Amino acid sequence: MSYYHLPTPGRRPIAWGAIGLLVVLSVSASLAAGWSAARPLTVSVDGRPVRLMSGTTVGSLSEQGLYSAAAGDLIGVNGSVVATAGGEPVRIERNGEYAAEWDRLYDGDVLVSARGSNRTEALITTDVPIPFETTFEGDGPIVELKKLGSPGVRRATVGERSGIEVTSTVITSPQDAVFVRVGPKAGDKLVALTFDDGPRRGSTDRILNILKQQEVPATFFVVGNRVKAQPALARRIVREGHQLGNHSYSHPDLRTLDRKSIRREVLQTRNAIRDATGTRTGWLRPPYGGMDTEAWGEMNRLDQHVVMWDVDPRDWSRPGTKKIVDNVLANVKPGSVVLLHDGGNDRRQTAAALPVIISRLKAQGYTFVTIQDLAGE
Ligand code: NI
Repeated sequence: MSYYHLPTPGRRPIAWGAIGLLVVLSVSASLAAGWSAARPLTVSVDGRPVRLMSGTTVGSLSEQGLYSAAAGDLIGVNGSVVATAGGEPVRIERNGEYAAEWDRLYDGDVLVSARGSNRTEALITTDVPIPFETTFEGDGPIVELKKLGSPGVRRATVGERSGIEVTSTVITSPQDAVFVRVGPKAGDKLVALTFDDGPRRGSTDRILNILKQQEVPATFFVVGNRVKAQPALARRIVREGHQLGNHSYSHPDLRTLDRKSIRREVLQTRNAIRDATGTRTGWLRPPYGGMDTEAWGEMNRLDQHVVMWDVDPRDWSRPGTKKIVDNVLANVKPGSVVLLHDGGNDRRQTAAALPVIISRLKAQGYTFVTIQDLAGE
């Protein structure tokens, strides 16, 4: 047997002794009414006697969990329980008749609960974007946009609570983005030297001096914040006939960024290049060569050609001048893009390897070109 006491205005324990007579007199009239309404009563709830204050309603017993039956469940569109007790409330009979929540209880009432009905969740209609795919055609280190991609839309009917799909109709099909990988025409003995991560004082100028002596153009994929720090070196790159490319603003892996940040990395560098040199570049090499669908989508929207490489002597790890030379000479073929670095660290090994690489490749009949010329643009 349990005893339950509901809060009513007159029930708070009062330290009578501590309160003055005047206060007692002034509240006694209102308390008199309260006491008569707060007389205890006993009802039977699912066969158990329960003591209550008068004024208690059918619904408040449910709030206290006194009924043994439970509410019905909310059933998902696939028949599984989505929310226990999320269906119709417990049904209560008082003295054999349906009782409403707000019905007041009287002494001797007999209450019997029955489980509420299950309810099936509602269906809602929602439009879901269908991402577009990125496809590649051809083979080569330069990637050109052939066709813009656009997402599609499908309309789905789903369970409001479970999210489970019942029907789905494609309203608009996604259009794949198509990129073409290009290189020079077969047989053309062209090669492009590229330098990443600069401009860096002491390295970029050393490399520029060698390229000048050898009368060889190259492409520099610059980091935007480096251009801001070394605008004169960026100007010298352009003045001496080389091509500038975009290598992001702060050299993050684009695969870790959201669309907005990818866009900012590209545009801030474009602006830094424009401010320093008055030129514009539509060529970009992603840091670490890292691209995902989101990054491709942004390059697509920004009309940015993406340049990878096919020869990587890992000069950034400073393996020794000879290793850099040997790796390049062993791997260059017509149309190759060679990945080297003028920034990031001391590049004396790279600079020392350059005259050897250039003279040997010239001797083999190679012509050095910028990326733009390699792509035939
Ligand atoms: Ni880099």
